Amino acid sequence: MPQIASLFVTRLYRARLSELGKKRIDTSELENACLSIAGDDEAGQRWSEDNGYPGYTSYASLTDLPWRFPIFADLVKVLDKHVAAFAKDAQFDLDGRKLRLEDIWINILPPGGIHTSHIHPHSVVSGTTYVSVPDGASAIKFEDPRSARMMAAPARKAKARREMQSFIYEAPAPGDVLLWESWLRHEVPMNMAEEERISVSFNYAWS
Ligand SMILES: [Fe+2]
Repeated sequence: MPQIASLFVTRLYRARLSELGKKRIDTSELENACLSIAGDDEAGQRWSEDNGYPGYTSYASLTDLPWRFPIFADLVKVLDKHVAAFAKDAQFDLDGRKLRLEDIWINILPPGGIHTSHIHPHSVVSGTTYVSVPDGASAIKFEDPRSARMMAAPARKAKARREMQSFIYEAPAPGDVLLWESWLRHEVPMNMAEEERISVSFNYAWS
C-alpha cells in the first residue's frame, strides 16, 4: 500500500471562550462595551470613514482597551490561555519566552460590509473572538498559504476533503474564539445579515 502523509500542516484553533480561564466573559456585556466604545470614539469613526473601512474599527484609535475597560482586561486573561494552548499544540519552541498580546481591537461590520483579504505580518498568532453574529452574517474565509506557488495546480473538487480545499469557511458563533498563525491569509466576505456583525480581533507577538 502506498503511504501518503500530510506535511507542513496549517492549524486552525476553535474553542468556546469559556472553556479556559477563571473568569467567564459575558458576551452581551462585551457587546454593550463594544457598542458604547464605538459610539464614543470619534477618532475611530473618522479613521474608519477616511480609510474606507466599512463600519467601525478601534484599530487605529484605541491601543489600550485592556487598560481602559475591565471587561477587556478580563478578556485578555482568557485569550492568553487560549493562545498558550494553541502555541503548545503548534509545538513552538518559545525559548522560555511567552506569546504576549500586541494589539486588540473592535470590529463592527455593518450589513453589506466586507474585510478584504490580509495577513498580520508582525505577529505570531492572530485571532478573533465573536461577540455578535446575526443570522446571515459572514463566516471567516481562510486561504491556502501555498496558493501563490501553485502555478499549474488544478483546482480542488468542490467536495474535496476539508483539509484538501483551497479555501476554508469557518462560521463562528458568539462566544467562540478562533486562532491561527498570523501569516495565514483571511478575509470576511460580505455581511449579508440585516444587523451588525461584532467581533474583537487581536495579535500576539513573541517577546
Ligand atoms: Fe485579520
